[in-house]
Amino acid sequence: MSQTRRPMIAGNWKMNGLKADGTALASDLAKLLNGETDPVFEMVVCPPFTLIAGIAEAITGSAIGLGAQDCHAADKGAHTGDISAPMLADLGCKYVLAGHSERRTNHGESDADVKAKAEAILASDLSAIICIGETEAERDGGKTMDVVKTQLSGSLPKSATAANSVIAYEPVWAIGTGRTPSDDEVQEVHALIRAELAKALGEDEAAGVRLLYGGSMNPGNASNLLALADVDGGLIGGASLKSEDFWAIAQSCDT
Ligand code: PGA
Repeated sequence: MSQTRRPMIAGNWKMNGLKADGTALASDLAKLLNGETDPVFEMVVCPPFTLIAGIAEAITGSAIGLGAQDCHAADKGAHTGDISAPMLADLGCKYVLAGHSERRTNHGESDADVKAKAEAILASDLSAIICIGETEAERDGGKTMDVVKTQLSGSLPKSATAANSVIAYEPVWAIGTGRTPSDDEVQEVHALIRAELAKALGEDEAAGVRLLYGGSMNPGNASNLLALADVDGGLIGGASLKSEDFWAIAQSCDT
């Protein structure tokens, strides 16, 4: 973690929660923030689409930011079942995830698809959290660095800046498994991402981009992961569904 980049603790709720659960979770987090308007960390929750409007209400007046988990690359049109970035902006979202590995795997999203979505997100004055990460076979085959580089360059929109884009490194094999890379391995990939960003955006801009680690982050491992030089927060799945765990992770930013 650096002194200059404000850490982000983002919760990816995935396909979890009915109205009452989501509202209770968001309200609990707002209570834990206890009226603090400018905590050291930026807290973001990304509920399923169905809960966004209700959560927007539950977190009104708190420092919690609202995000969505995906969007279509087009603004509107004949895309049955899809949701556009302007629709998410209309609900009060500030962030949208693009290219989560579950989207890449379950919906066949390519780097080009992810880039188009990220462009749509930025065009709606929202910020993109662009997700990249290698599979277990790629890690075992020594391809992690190549995969991460290719995904980053293929998914990053031209208009990306430190202010409108966040990169989440999520090794696919670490998501929901309780396994994580070693701290050194995480730092090595994050340093590579920042070096690649410097090539694409320039040194100064790259120095301001927040890089999140995601994949089995929990209250037990968060302090070590968040202390790494190029880790500027976390994208948290399972542990974001329990307010006390998510809060404990956010508190690790203070140490
Ligand atoms: P996890 O998920 O924290 O449950 O591993 C992270 C993610 O998929 O964003």
